[in-house]
Amino acid sequence: MKTKLTELLDITYPIIQAPMFLVSNTAMVIEAMKGGIAGCIPALNYRTLDDLRASIQELKATKVNGGSFGYNLIVNKSNIKYKEQLRVLCEEGCDFIITSLGSPEETINQAHAVGIKVFCDVTDLKFAQKVEGLGADAAIAVNNQAGGHRGNMNPEELIKHLTDNISIPVISAGGVGCKADIDKMLSYGAAGVSVGSPFIASVEAGVTEEYKQACVDYGAEDIVMTERISGTPCTVINTPYVQKIGTKQTWLESVLNKNKKLKKWVKMIRFTIGMNAATKAATKVTYKTVWVAGPSIEYTKSILPTRDIIKKLTQ
Ligand SMILES: Cc1cc2nc3c(=O)[nH]c(=O)nc-3n(C[C@H](O)[C@H](O)[C@H](O)COP(=O)(O)O)c2cc1C
Repeated sequence: MKTKLTELLDITYPIIQAPMFLVSNTAMVIEAMKGGIAGCIPALNYRTLDDLRASIQELKATKVNGGSFGYNLIVNKSNIKYKEQLRVLCEEGCDFIITSLGSPEETINQAHAVGIKVFCDVTDLKFAQKVEGLGADAAIAVNNQAGGHRGNMNPEELIKHLTDNISIPVISAGGVGCKADIDKMLSYGAAGVSVGSPFIASVEAGVTEEYKQACVDYGAEDIVMTERISGTPCTVINTPYVQKIGTKQTWLESVLNKNKKLKKWVKMIRFTIGMNAATKAATKVTYKTVWVAGPSIEYTKSILPTRDIIKKLTQ
């Protein structure tokens, strides 16, 4: 399975275990590296910069041949820790950074100065061309099957549209749960895939057994988009609690959102409330079951060690 992604990261298989807020941790990434793929953790999963630094040091110490590790940075204003996180990543070093939400210019410049590769989340050609112009090493094409903040185009359409028009490698994110899916994405022209949801129900994931079991019990048709987590539509499992609270912004929010001056504050409040709810649901037993996941949980039939999930993707 040699592709531009395996060359870029010096990995055995063209797969990145995608960064997932609250879910990804060093235990998963260590297993990912042992399995010959790359693993990535959102920097925001660490409450303090010392915790982030300790995580990088742990991964540097356990890195094995055939695997590689990176961190995800939210590069827009919603992440008030962004500049400090970037500094710590550049001081400590890692193989790659995945940027999401916002311009990756500063990250690319600083990371490249210390030899870290930068891959940027994109959902359309315009942004893909922008990141290529800024020097990104690859574009992560987030399609309409992805978990989290998904894109609008289907995988085939998006991969072909991008590979026809940009020359950096395109890594497909969304909807992959088995080797046949990966072969399909590569046949459309992708250099590799970034896989998130199928790893939620891994033994190593840092979330409750209830969340993992929900990924087993629910399937693709149970995924809905909600505006009630970050303000930006996000995929969640349609649990009875999600059905009860609804997936649209409240009447008050929609009225306040029409006011230009108030809009920013409404978004910030929604972001804080929504993130707290998602954090509680992922880490504590609660009836408020707001569980982020994408349709590829369809492939999740039991809670498995990360290494077995990698086997399903590679064999
Ligand atoms: C639970 C969950 C949390 C996520 N958190 C993040 C995140 O913090 N940063 C990010 O860039 N992408 C995040 N994503 C998106 C993933 O990195 C990746 O693009 C997506 O999972 C790919 O689609 P898949 O779930 O079908 O594999 C998240 C996805 C899920 C399912």
